[in-house]
Amino acid sequence: METRPFPTIPKFIPEDIEAQKVLIEASYFSADNDIHIQWEKARRPIALAITKPGTILDFGCANSYLGRCLQEWTGLGKGLDVYGMDNQQAKIEESRELFPDTKDHFATTKDTDALNQFPKEFDYVYWNIWTELIKNWNDQCRVIFDWLFNQVKPGGKIILGFYKSNLEDTDSDKVINKLKEDGFDVQMVADTEMTIVVSIVKQNPLPIA
Ligand SMILES: C[S@@+](CC[C@H](N)C(=O)[O-])C[C@H]1O[C@@H](n2cnc3c(N)ncnc32)[C@H](O)[C@@H]1O
Repeated sequence: METRPFPTIPKFIPEDIEAQKVLIEASYFSADNDIHIQWEKARRPIALAITKPGTILDFGCANSYLGRCLQEWTGLGKGLDVYGMDNQQAKIEESRELFPDTKDHFATTKDTDALNQFPKEFDYVYWNIWTELIKNWNDQCRVIFDWLFNQVKPGGKIILGFYKSNLEDTDSDKVINKLKEDGFDVQMVADTEMTIVVSIVKQNPLPIA
């Protein structure tokens, strides 16, 4: 059987730099030096939006190392119950290796049987909007956004991440401004040298008078 250099019992930050690199690059992040420091700079701001225990869906989860890190960075540990969807089966397998106790929380976007077992709504939905969609935000992208927003519990939030490495300054503004024009109350969570994170709370329905 082919063996991959992928830690099966992950430690949060593996001491071995090569193991760190393997985990982080499997999430499509690269850096020439200090890869875990760069990764943390680029991703940790997401944790600021996660203020209480609950479920989180990472849409486009890759190997779900982000979810594993968010458990740590928020201080919630398993109180942050991570789910992930990706269109690549290999990424779902990697996610299951990182979350061996909750393998059924990870599924491809086509695996309807597995997705039917997911909660219908989550406390948090995270989407690192893909670069090409940010650059060409249109009605099709809104369909994905709406589908994800539908999966947020009332009182929960959708968190959107814009990673700056491939973006012009104005690219994220265009999406954020469009969502605002469409009536969403977009709140800035963080704007750092590497990333912009915003969130939108899904309001509870008004109580019946
Ligand atoms: C850059 S990685 C993001 C990983 C992690 N969410 C993060 O923010 O660090 C983007 C992931 O989105 C997945 N992806 C791209 N297009 C997708 C689609 N249409 N449906 C589901 N996943 C998709 C890719 O396979 C990849 O694993």
